[in-house]
Parts: sequence; C-alpha cells; structure tokens
Amino acid sequence: MQRLAPSLREDNVSLDLISLIKTILAATKEISFRVSQAHLGGLLGSTLDENIQGEVQKKLDVVANELIKDILLESGFVKAISSEEEDHSVAGDENGKYLVSFDPLDGSSNIDINSLIGTIFSIHEAIPGVDAADSAQFKQAGHKQVCAGYVLYGPSTMLVMTTGKGTHFYVLDRTHGGFLLVERNVQVPQDTKEFAVNMSNQRFWQAPMQNYINDLLAGDTGPRGKNFNMRWIAAMVGDIHRVLQRGGIFTYPADSKNSEQPYKLRLMYEANPMSYLIEQAGGVAMTSQGRIMEIEPTDIHQRVEVIMGSKNEVEKCLSYYK
Ligand code: F6P
Ligand code: MN
Repeated sequence: MQRLAPSLREDNVSLDLISLIKTILAATKEISFRVSQAHLGGLLGSTLDENIQGEVQKKLDVVANELIKDILLESGFVKAISSEEEDHSVAGDENGKYLVSFDPLDGSSNIDINSLIGTIFSIHEAIPGVDAADSAQFKQAGHKQVCAGYVLYGPSTMLVMTTGKGTHFYVLDRTHGGFLLVERNVQVPQDTKEFAVNMSNQRFWQAPMQNYINDLLAGDTGPRGKNFNMRWIAAMVGDIHRVLQRGGIFTYPADSKNSEQPYKLRLMYEANPMSYLIEQAGGVAMTSQGRIMEIEPTDIHQRVEVIMGSKNEVEKCLSYYK
C-alpha cells in the first residue's frame, strides 16, 4: 500500500502543500491517541465554557483545537487559521502560503458515548498583501479550496482527502505511524435507497423537505416505488463517510426551531470541505438554492443548509423546491 506523500506527488501536489497536510495529520494522530485514552485520562465531559456558537465546549474539543492550532501556528506554513472553537481567526506567519479552517472534533455529542467523531479541515491559498490578522481573507468560496479532508476516529482511524484529483481513503497504520492509501478515486453511487436526516426536526422543516421525506417514507407503495432506509450518526464525519462509501443522501435542511438560526451546519469547516470531497467523488453538494461551493462567505462561522450525496437522489430532492 502506498504511503501518503508519494500518493500526493502522483496527484502533482506541491511540496509546500504536502508539508502542510503532514503537519495537520501529525496533530490528528495525537488526537486519535487522546480520544482513545479520554476516559482513562479524565477527558470526558464538558468544560464550563461555550464557544462563539453558544455550544458548550467538551474537554476534548478544547484539547483537539489546541493541538491543531499550536502545530499549525508553529509550522510557518499558514498565514492564519480559523476554527469552530475560536471566536476569531488567528494570525500565523505573514509569509505563510495557506489558510486553514477546521472543526477540531466534529460530532461532539458522540464523545462521551464512545461513538464516531472526527476532525474536518479545509485549505485555501492565502491572499498576498492581506494582513495575517485580517479575517476577511477567509471569505473565499469553497470552489477555491486547494485541499479538504477529514480524519475519522472510528474502529480504525481514517483520512479521507482531496486535493482536486479525486477523493481518496487512507488508513492510519499504527505499526509504522503513517497513513496508507487504501482506496483511490472513491465514487459515490449515483442512486441510493438510504437517507440521513435528523427526523426529530421534521415538523420544523419547510414544505418541500416535508414532502420529499414523506415520499421516501411511503416506500414501495408511494410515488418513489421503493423502500428507503434511514441512518443518523449525529456526526457529519460519520454520515458523510457512509455516503462516500456506499451512497445516500445527507441533509440538514432549513428549520424554524430558532427563527434567528434556520441552519445548523457551518459553511467554512463543515459544508465546504465535505462538498469538495463529495463532488470529487462524483456526488452533488447543494443548498435548496444552489451549489454550496459557489457561496461567497460573509462570516467565518456562518451556517448553511446542506443537501448532499448521491447525484440522482440529491437532484430528486431539489426538484421538490422548484
Ligand atoms: O457539528 C454539528 C453536528 O454535530 C454534525 O456533525 C452533525 O451532523 C449534526 O451536528 C448533528 O445534529 P443533531 O444534534 O441535530 O443530530
Ligand atoms: Mn462539527
């Protein structure tokens, strides 16, 4: 099995970007270890703090954030970073070539129940002439990402990544400490019989999503003429991993639970990187209004509607909005 760096050189990835990716992965290997030891080390449970999203921070959220932040800021490769757990972007090296946005530990509610969690990252090129402390440089659309990926801390620790030449799977081989390529150019099946949505929000969705899901639930006696299965891991990394592996539609639609906040998932470090991975694997990643990666960001923590996965199923869902 091929090691990470040679596989990236095959995709013509620059040495600078390979070094940055290896830097991020060094932190994730440590996070993988800390996650496995969390119960023993008293690292389960919450801190007394909330992040800027108003969510209680788990102890492991904070640990994971510090590990990635420190290694990136010390690396010299990054001009600035932006994290779910940081209120504002953090300046790095003025000469750094890249900007990194990340969700240090996605699926936080799974931490204390020993279930799937992961780290999501998105890399853009820094804009020359802009001050490292200026967070405006992060306001670049998702189609400008030069790399996106996640590390899933599951039964095996897996890296799923794209640099624009397909989406590839790697597994952390603990015998030598590196990630090995296990599947090149993963393809999301175009059709599916599986959907992922938090059904408890059903009564708060807009009519088109209500109608679409009702038709899936109607199964082979309904308009779709086939039975659908439902899965919800409650960690985007876990649900998207399943979709990449065997197809499906994943959505966190707009809802009216909180009128000031119709969307849940964050554009810069959840929706954009996952969209890049899904599109590079032949899937589709949309809001009900258009392609996620076309959105011009207005805020590093902005939230967005997400409908992504198997091409034909996402298109079917969107047809309900027309
Ligand atoms: O980071 C947000 C997140 O935890 C995602 O990973 C996940 O898909 C979603 O929220 C789960 O939402 P809910 O708590 O509504 O099931
Ligand atoms: Mn998250």
